[in-house]
Amino acid sequence: MEKENIIVLDFGGQYNQLIARRVREANVYCEVKPYKTPIDELKAMSPSGIILTGGPRSVYEEDSPTCTKELFELGVPILGICYGAQLMAHVLGGKVDGAPNAEYGNTEIEAHEGSKLLNGTKRKSIAWMSHVDYIASAPEGFRVTAHSKNCPVAAMEDERHSLYAVQFHPEVEHTEEGTKVLRNFIYDICGLKGTWKMDSFVETAITDLKARVGKGRVFCALSGGVDSSVAAVLLSKAVGEQLTCVFVDHGLLRKNEGDEVEAVFGPNGPYKLNFIRVNAAQRFYKKLEGVTDPEKKRKIIGEEFIRVFEEEAKKIGKVDFLVQGTIYPDVIESGLGDSARIKSHHNVGGLPEHVDFKEIVEPLRMLFKDEVRKAGLELGIPENLVFRQPFPGPGLGVRIIGEVSEEKVRIVQDADAIFREEAANFGWDRKMSQYFAALTNMQSVGVMGDERTYDYAVVLRAVVTSDFMTAEPAALPFDLLRKVSDRIVNEVKGVNRVLYDCSSKPPATIEME
Ligand code: XMP
Repeated sequence: MEKENIIVLDFGGQYNQLIARRVREANVYCEVKPYKTPIDELKAMSPSGIILTGGPRSVYEEDSPTCTKELFELGVPILGICYGAQLMAHVLGGKVDGAPNAEYGNTEIEAHEGSKLLNGTKRKSIAWMSHVDYIASAPEGFRVTAHSKNCPVAAMEDERHSLYAVQFHPEVEHTEEGTKVLRNFIYDICGLKGTWKMDSFVETAITDLKARVGKGRVFCALSGGVDSSVAAVLLSKAVGEQLTCVFVDHGLLRKNEGDEVEAVFGPNGPYKLNFIRVNAAQRFYKKLEGVTDPEKKRKIIGEEFIRVFEEEAKKIGKVDFLVQGTIYPDVIESGLGDSARIKSHHNVGGLPEHVDFKEIVEPLRMLFKDEVRKAGLELGIPENLVFRQPFPGPGLGVRIIGEVSEEKVRIVQDADAIFREEAANFGWDRKMSQYFAALTNMQSVGVMGDERTYDYAVVLRAVVTSDFMTAEPAALPFDLLRKVSDRIVNEVKGVNRVLYDCSSKPPATIEME
C-alpha cells in the first residue's frame, strides 16, 4: 500500500497546527515542515499533497517567507491558504496588493460553478477571513472560483497543474464549508483514501522502536500522566524487560492516584513493567515545612523531584535510551519555521542533564493530544488514565495556599475526590476542561452540632478552555455545587465552608496558588 502523506509548509500562520490536525482527522498522515525545507528534501518525502499555510507578512515585503517556482512544478497537488494563496499568485505571475478593505472574521463568499476544490459546497457560505492583502489578479492559467464583497479572488485554481488556493481559512470551525474544502483537496484532488489510523501508528511505532533500541536499555520517568504512560507502554511492547520505569510519588498526588498508577503499571498490572515506585512523600513534606511562597514551593518540589530521580538512575546505572513523552504541540511550539515561539519544549524537569544516557526516544513526537489518547486506548490503557485532566507537575503543592502539610494534603485530596465523584454523578465530568478542589489558607468560625468550629474553606475550581491560556469558569448547576459542598463539610474533617471560584483567566490563573 502506498504511503499517504501531506506536508504542511509553515509560513508562520497561527492556525498551522490546526491544518495538520484537520488533515489527520481525515485519516491522512500529515507533518508540518518549515517553509525553508529544501526542495530535494521535500521530494524525498514523496508527499501526496502540499499545503501552504497562512502567515503574518506581505509577499512583496523584503525578506518575507517565500518559495521558488520549482515548488509548483513538482507535479504534486498544492493548496495555498491565505498567505500561501497570495504567495502562489505572486510567484506564478499574478498580482498581490494591499486590499482597500481588509477582511477579518466571518465573511460571505460566493463560489463559482465548476470548481474542483469547492465542489459540493453551497453557492454562498460563511468563511473565516483574516487578511490585509489580497490577490488582485490570478496568474495565467488560473481561474477564479470564488469571490467575496471585498475580495475579487477568494479562491482560484489551475486544475491542469493541480494548484489550488483559498484566501479564507478552511481549517477553522467558523468556515462553514471548510471541512468539505479540505476533504475535496485530500480525497478528490490528491486522490487519497485516508488510511492513517491509530492502530497502524501503534503497530508501526512498535516495529520502529524494536529496530532502533535493539538490545539497548531504556529508562522512563513515568508520571502517570497520559503522555508518559502511553510512551512507556509503547516501549514496553517493543522492548519488554529492557525498559525500566520510575514513578516518584511526591505525596502531592490526588487521592489514591499513586496506587492507581501502580495498579496499572506495577508488577501486578497488565504490562509487567520493570516498575520502581519511590514513595518520597515525607521527604517532600519535610522540605516544604514553613514555606509559604508559591514560587519557592514550586522550586523545592521541582528540585527534589530531580534529586529522587538522580538517586534512582544511579542505582540503575548507565542506560542507552531515555524515553520522553514529548508530543507534537511541544515540538511545534518550540518554534518550527517562522511560527512564533510560544514556549520552550519542556520535558520532565530537565531530567536529561541528570541521567546518564546516550539517546532520547520520543515515540509520540508526531502526535496531537487526542491522538495520544487514541493510541493509549489502542494499547489497552484504562480510560480513567487516558482521559485524565491535566495535572501540574508540582501537584497539590500548587493547590494549597500557604504552607503545605500532610494534614492539608489529606483535606484537599478528600475534598477533590468528592468533587470528582459528584461531577461524574451529575454527568459534568467531561463537560469541564479541568476541575479540582483547592485549599485556602483561611479559617473561619462555623458551627457543627452544638460545637463552634474554626476550620478551613475549600475552593472548587472548574474551567472550560481549549488552550488553557485563557479560561472561563464552568457554569456548574447549583444542585451539583450544593451536593459537593454538603458532602465536603460533612465528610472532610477540618473544613466548614466551600466556595466556588467564578474568576476567569486572565486575570486569575487556572491553578490557585
Ligand atoms: P495556570 O494555572 O497557569 O495553568 O492557568 C495552566 C495549565 O497548566 C497547568 N500547570 C502546570 N502543568 N507543570 C505542569 O505540567 C506545572 O508546573 C504547571 N502549572 C500549571 C495547569 O494545571 C493548567 O492546566
